[in-house]
Amino acid sequence: MRRKLVVGNWKMHGSHQANAELLAGIRAAGPFGCDLAVCVPFPYLSETAVTLAASDLRWGAQDCSAHAQGAYTGEVSAAMLHEFGCRYVIVGHSERRGYHAEGDQLVADKAKAALAHGITPIVCVGETLAQREAGETDAVVKRQLSAVIHTLGHCAGEMVVAYEPVWAIGTGRTATPEQAQAVHALLRTQLQAATAHADTMTLLYGGSVKPDNASTLFGQPDIDGGLIGGAALKAADFVAICRAAG
Ligand code: G3P
Repeated sequence: MRRKLVVGNWKMHGSHQANAELLAGIRAAGPFGCDLAVCVPFPYLSETAVTLAASDLRWGAQDCSAHAQGAYTGEVSAAMLHEFGCRYVIVGHSERRGYHAEGDQLVADKAKAALAHGITPIVCVGETLAQREAGETDAVVKRQLSAVIHTLGHCAGEMVVAYEPVWAIGTGRTATPEQAQAVHALLRTQLQAATAHADTMTLLYGGSVKPDNASTLFGQPDIDGGLIGGAALKAADFVAICRAAG
């Protein structure tokens, strides 16, 4: 009933040539039976928008400012992303939370700024290995999501949520389908208490999704697709993951 969504998070990878080859490889393999998008580094948004203008692939960014405009050196506003046709923006990725000390409220404010400009925020939540081993997974993800739900209010149903256990990112250590499903079910229950749209909301899993584990993960009842890092940089792998979602 929910259409799957697969999003490639290119992180700080790419070049003019590599991007062109990657997008050509993905497009040549389509169409797919799922929605798909690539979240590219800011400098490549313009050319990505041109390349993908007539395709089914959507594109987006990996972060945005919580501010509308002003003296915020190095920041990029949601209004600017809108001008480049961004459909999505990732907010609250653990690499932003960890390396840039982004807290729950800032992440929530970024999600709100995105929605104000018609861009769907992909809100990332997830626990560290230490938190999982301490039995804190549920409390951590609920706290992270709660800040966003509270800030978005009646618009909460418009976000996409991505569960990305920090210990599974770029490590080759994927959450088992059961572990991932358990957290997704928890998140959906939390959303059900906040919005009437919870059952149609898209909840993605991210963390070492590969062609050989994608279909089992996507087969879980509350996993509606994936947020893909490393495997999104190789057309063949990304295409295989999209096929697993379709
Ligand atoms: O946002 C996607 C991500 O953090 C997962 O990365 O390389 O483990 O697929 P990776």
